[in-house]
Amino acid sequence: MAEIRIRNTGERISGEENVRSFLDKQEVLYEHWNAAKLPAELQEKFVLSDEEKAQILSTFDEEIRDLAGRRGYKTWDVIALSDATPNLDELLKKFESVHTHTEDEVRAITAGRGIFIIKGTDDVGYFDVELEAGDVISVPEHKAHFFTLMENRKIVAVRLFIETEGWIAHPYDDPAFQKAQ
Ligand SMILES: [Fe+2]
Repeated sequence: MAEIRIRNTGERISGEENVRSFLDKQEVLYEHWNAAKLPAELQEKFVLSDEEKAQILSTFDEEIRDLAGRRGYKTWDVIALSDATPNLDELLKKFESVHTHTEDEVRAITAGRGIFIIKGTDDVGYFDVELEAGDVISVPEHKAHFFTLMENRKIVAVRLFIETEGWIAHPYDDPAFQKAQ
């Protein structure tokens, strides 16, 4: 299950109901898929062939179509990142700057872990959402955020798009953001 860390206070929020209610107030969608549906060999595999990616999409076809039907997504794919990814450090450097999009950013984690760092309401400030397999998150359009990996530097996620052009990152220059926190 996802956990929250509020950067200004160090406060952690855990437990599905608490996490969901916090994210709800921040207008961040949080849902859960049963990651155990994935064949065991794909639950710990981070270098994927096209066939394996297709197998992940077909395993979660019902969940994907349900989410897409409710929220208007038209296309989806699978992204896999690990130390085997060429230029992983460069990629992460590129990810790790606060930005916005004109459509929401949806990720359903099917293996591994990852963090979204999101700018919350003024009383909360920036918070981390630490995600694991089964967690589904949607960061709303125009909400400042960035994504990075956790210590294990491994993730597989399904991405859903309304239009792929909507996912272009627009830098969000925020002097209030302290990267070191
Ligand atoms: Fe983004």
